[in-house]
Amino acid sequence: MTIEEKLIAGVQAAVKALYGMEATAQQVQLQKTREEFEGHLTVVVFPFVKAARKAPDMVGNEIGQYLVEHVGDVVAKFNVVKGFLNLVISDAPWIALLNQINADPKFGFQPVTDQSPLVMIEYSSPNTNKPLHLGHVRNNLLGSALARIVEANGNKVVKTNIVNDRGIHICKSMLAWLKWGNGETPESSGKKGDHLIGDYYVAFDKHYREEIKELVAQGMDEEKAKQEAPLIKEAHEMLVKWEQGDPEVRSLWKKMNEWVYAGFDETYKMMGVSFDKIYYESDTYLEGKEKVMEGLEKGFFYRREDGSVWADLTAEGLDEKLLLRSDGTSVYMTQDIGTAKLRFQDFPIDKMIYVVGNEQNYHFQVLSILLDKLGFKWGKDLVHFSYGMVELPNGKMKSREGTVVDADDLMAAMIADAYEASKERVKQTEMPEEEAREVARKVGLGALKYFILKVERKNMLFNPEESIDFNGNTGPFIQYTYARIASILRKANEQGVVIPKELSTLNSQLSTKETELIQKLNQFPAAVRQAGTDYSPSGICNYCYELTKAFNQFYHDFTILGETDETLKFFRLSLAQAVAKVIRLGMGLLGIEMPERM
Ligand code: ARG
Repeated sequence: MTIEEKLIAGVQAAVKALYGMEATAQQVQLQKTREEFEGHLTVVVFPFVKAARKAPDMVGNEIGQYLVEHVGDVVAKFNVVKGFLNLVISDAPWIALLNQINADPKFGFQPVTDQSPLVMIEYSSPNTNKPLHLGHVRNNLLGSALARIVEANGNKVVKTNIVNDRGIHICKSMLAWLKWGNGETPESSGKKGDHLIGDYYVAFDKHYREEIKELVAQGMDEEKAKQEAPLIKEAHEMLVKWEQGDPEVRSLWKKMNEWVYAGFDETYKMMGVSFDKIYYESDTYLEGKEKVMEGLEKGFFYRREDGSVWADLTAEGLDEKLLLRSDGTSVYMTQDIGTAKLRFQDFPIDKMIYVVGNEQNYHFQVLSILLDKLGFKWGKDLVHFSYGMVELPNGKMKSREGTVVDADDLMAAMIADAYEASKERVKQTEMPEEEAREVARKVGLGALKYFILKVERKNMLFNPEESIDFNGNTGPFIQYTYARIASILRKANEQGVVIPKELSTLNSQLSTKETELIQKLNQFPAAVRQAGTDYSPSGICNYCYELTKAFNQFYHDFTILGETDETLKFFRLSLAQAVAKVIRLGMGLLGIEMPERM
């Protein structure tokens, strides 16, 4: 039982014994005691006045007396002010609570067992024709944070990715490379493979647009020109060859995709994200066709005269959805059905979460219905973790068009900013260059991650400057507080102070600021649980921010190492240690690393 639960039960027993009143737990209102009074928690006595038929202060005194006599391990003493019963909580339960928090290295986390449900989380899911951009950064950060939170709630988690590695987009890059590449490779050019391929994709587009312009100038209708341009025709021919398994096209495709994957791997590594199992569209799209044919036989889908296969979802309030084109080729939806089939063959999925932008809301609404029809037990309740667009202050950034902010460039810029900022700050305490770089990496990425995760699903503007501000609701603010605690603990260690593993009783009374901090720590498990049920990394951001603020308030009001009462010094060190641990665990769920110095 928590301290609050014990108190509520105590008050219920008191009014029953004193006034014969059956009070519900809701009738017992507990509040934080106001600063000007002595006490930690306050009981509002007015709900019991009628049953008692006594003046409020009298009622307060009687209940207070009862609590001291019956729950004396919790209530040390009390005072009554105008119908408010202020309770001073004994030190023992606080100390016990802090000891409990300190004893558990995975405080707040639910263990994963063989019986735990299996949750598969898909995120990232790039196309292999260009490098990752800011939109992917947001996707990856949300997905990997979600994976950690779901796991911390006692689920087996499989992190997955579907790579869209085939299709017209990659043929465009391949064709451009054949035409204008002169055999350029990542080695020969010194470019990351994904950037190299991205450059050819851009080159294709440039030449393609020129061709269209020319055709239009010759009097062709623009739509027609888009189809008739020689480059796009050639790209389509290449795709057909790919489908037919043409060895030359396939080997070029393989080579170029390998370059891209090597590039993605570097980006993922820097971002701190990983996957347990990666699927490739080139493997899954044929499986989708099979599954659709199965659905056709079972009568879930129907065939039109031109041979195309459709799902009629009008009964579900949606429209009709194409699943196979008349030439038998598959569409995006078919691929997702195939991927679902392979995934379910590989893992006993209980719950599936897709982290994909909100421009695909309709797609996943339809997919859920189709998977359900096709007998996937998790299809109906699949979660589409949908989120909005992310932009930078200068210039728009959208996933499919326009100028894109490159993920590698963005991370490098954040780290460089953090490096500069720390150089200005830490003039006196010189840090070895290697450590300074490592701290800058943690802080720059911490700023980026925290800012994005805090906003969560809404459309957002990523403001690099604001994200790295040391005073505010930012990653670096929390990291800085962590580093400050780490430095206190280092100093204690240097002074030969050994913090006891288990604290015993104190010589003096704890203040509300201290007990509030313990209470804040004790809310961490609930915050993790809530973030798990809501699929909400931002809940963890808020918790970490609140805890950090509470610690800074405490640190402002009290000395730690300078405290002369040894029991109190141990207590405060131990409290600081617990705060550092919980910050590390919480921020760890967000994929944010903590620097020991800053
Ligand atoms: N690669 C796709 C795109 O860029 C996103 C894939 C999302 N995942 C899925 N299972 N459909 O739009």
